[in-house]
Amino acid sequence: MKHIRSIEELARWKSEGREKKLGFVPTMGALHKGHLSLVQLSQEKCDRTLVSIYVNPTQFNNKEDFAKYPSTLEADLSALEAMGCDAVFLPDAEMLYPEGLKSRRFDFEGLDRHMEGAGRPGHFEGMATVVTRFFALIEPDVAVFGEKDYQQLSIIRHVVAKENWPVEILPGPIFREADGLAMSSRNMRLLPHERKESAQIYAVLSRAISTLDLEKTTRKTFEKACIKALDAVPSIRVEYVSCCDAATLQPLDEFNTSRPARVFAAVQCGKVRLIDNLPLF
Ligand code: PAJ
Repeated sequence: MKHIRSIEELARWKSEGREKKLGFVPTMGALHKGHLSLVQLSQEKCDRTLVSIYVNPTQFNNKEDFAKYPSTLEADLSALEAMGCDAVFLPDAEMLYPEGLKSRRFDFEGLDRHMEGAGRPGHFEGMATVVTRFFALIEPDVAVFGEKDYQQLSIIRHVVAKENWPVEILPGPIFREADGLAMSSRNMRLLPHERKESAQIYAVLSRAISTLDLEKTTRKTFEKACIKALDAVPSIRVEYVSCCDAATLQPLDEFNTSRPARVFAAVQCGKVRLIDNLPLF
């Protein structure tokens, strides 16, 4: 596996395989099986796969979250190597932000209005700034994004369509621990009792969906019941539970099975912020 640490090395590596279909998996490292499942998707669809590892400062609105973001570079590199990944791109801030750590301006046309966009000001602009910079440098044919960050995936699809980036966006399903907790690099910061209780996020949401009675349940009662059940877990404090249209990401007026919808949740579990989402219908 090639370790790429400069723009020149990247250009050289790209030129060695111009005719090959290139898959790109952007990450912030501390890799887990969810990330690796995206690498595998890319490998299935493409001739070569490049993974980037870069903890992007402009998308963190919380200094402590940025400072405490886990880093496991040695283990990440061996996991990627073992999978037969072709290259890993390890840029620094100067390569990605030659004019300083600033976000571009974007109009996400409402996709960022709720959920993560409401709770984390500047997050999506920072994320889209670094992802479009990666697209410009790497020029991938395919880029893989996980449904774990569903709003991020929707926003990237929107930017790609609006700005005509010549890249196909490939979504990857949410990879979960055996007890249902969505895999996340932040899970390793959970204390043992928090880790155990965090399984309730998936348990509560999936139970609410499987018992959903469309004749009787309104969106509000559904969300309230989930919030109540989650807030009853000692280490969990709910930030939001929101049922939204899967395409527009606007809160549903009422349940209407004619359009795909999902339930989205963000909670604080101890000192760690966790998000998840599941299809409603
Ligand atoms: P990061 O949180 O490292 O996630 C990298 C990719 O892995 C994202 O597409 C994310 O949705 C996906 N992912 C995370 N957990 C997953 C899981 N349990 N199952 C499936 N996919 C999962 O998302 C980012 O980094 C950054 O915002 C980035 C796109 C790299 C830009 O800085």
